[in-house]
Amino acid sequence: MLFEKYKIKQFIVKNRIVMAPMCMYQSDNCGFVKEFHKAHYYSRSLGGIGIVIVEATSVSENGRISDRDLGIWREEHVHGLSQLASNIKEAGAIPFIQLNHAGRKSFSKKVIAPSSISNYRDDKVLEKMTTKIIDEVIDDFVKAAIRADKAGFDGIEIHAAHGYLISQFMSPISNKRKDEYSNKHLFLKRIVESIQRVWPKKKLMSIRVSATEYHPDGFTIKDVIDILNKIDLKNVDYINVSSGGNIPPKKIKLKTGYQLEFSKKIKSALNVHVIGGGLISNYNSANRALKRNKCDSIFFGRLLLRDPMYFLRIKKGLDWPQAYKRGK
Ligand SMILES: Cc1cc2nc3c(=O)[nH]c(=O)nc-3n(C[C@H](O)[C@H](O)[C@H](O)COP(=O)(O)O)c2cc1C
Repeated sequence: MLFEKYKIKQFIVKNRIVMAPMCMYQSDNCGFVKEFHKAHYYSRSLGGIGIVIVEATSVSENGRISDRDLGIWREEHVHGLSQLASNIKEAGAIPFIQLNHAGRKSFSKKVIAPSSISNYRDDKVLEKMTTKIIDEVIDDFVKAAIRADKAGFDGIEIHAAHGYLISQFMSPISNKRKDEYSNKHLFLKRIVESIQRVWPKKKLMSIRVSATEYHPDGFTIKDVIDILNKIDLKNVDYINVSSGGNIPPKKIKLKTGYQLEFSKKIKSALNVHVIGGGLISNYNSANRALKRNKCDSIFFGRLLLRDPMYFLRIKKGLDWPQAYKRGK
């Protein structure tokens, strides 16, 4: 199952293995791609991965999590990013890039958020977003999507998870607005629908969500499904299911595949390819999840940090890169 290929739009994806987006914090303070990123993504793509999602990349200068995030808020970023996209393709994987704005979780001095409620990690002064600023950020996402296309990415992933700006709007904990954006789905809806106008229809689109906040005051899986149901998902090909991040969890049991119950619910509620995962660190657990219909593909994060060649090692029949064949 894990090594089974499938067709989606014009793409044949060679298996159901997805490299999860993981911030590496190895850029400079202007968001440019470095040699590290080229080597990091190239070597992981050589390891037999179907889809490689480049880490959360900031659509606005003040949307960075840290001053070492990758950026896509300037035309000048396109060149370096295009090297990542072409390296990933050359190594046989499909390149995605995750588009993010950190909102109240940004390190920057001028922090914006849906409401003036600080991130739990600090008590920075926040600027509550006016509708003008909201429109500007939506426009930043749109411009970032255009740049991702120019850079040669086949897919974009909108980061609506982990307590960053979009999920701050989705959460009753961080969104106490009284205007139309009190509708928890609206910011995400406008971003998705605006991006759909510029992102080529033949290319792929994903949304990453946190399925729950693990907190009695936060959103639940049911709320997330309601939010997704209010959005026109016709050109959205994937929902990538994670959890948490906006507030310290009240109760969470970390164990292999602990998020799969959520991906399963989203899969049965929506007609879309669902990527699930979290603490899945071997082939058997991943395959079991697919067989039990918990999701359609599996993301792997930390496993690929420690062992980029894991999948080649466990399945010697895989199409090994020519240069490595003698290592089989
Ligand atoms: C170093 C590191 C950086 C991460 N950065 C991101 C990120 O940029 N975007 C995101 O959606 N998730 C991020 N995550 C979460 C991973 O995508 C993934 O959901 C998480 O690591 C759980 O999967 P795993 O158990 O296979 O590692 C990060 C995780 C790690 C370990």
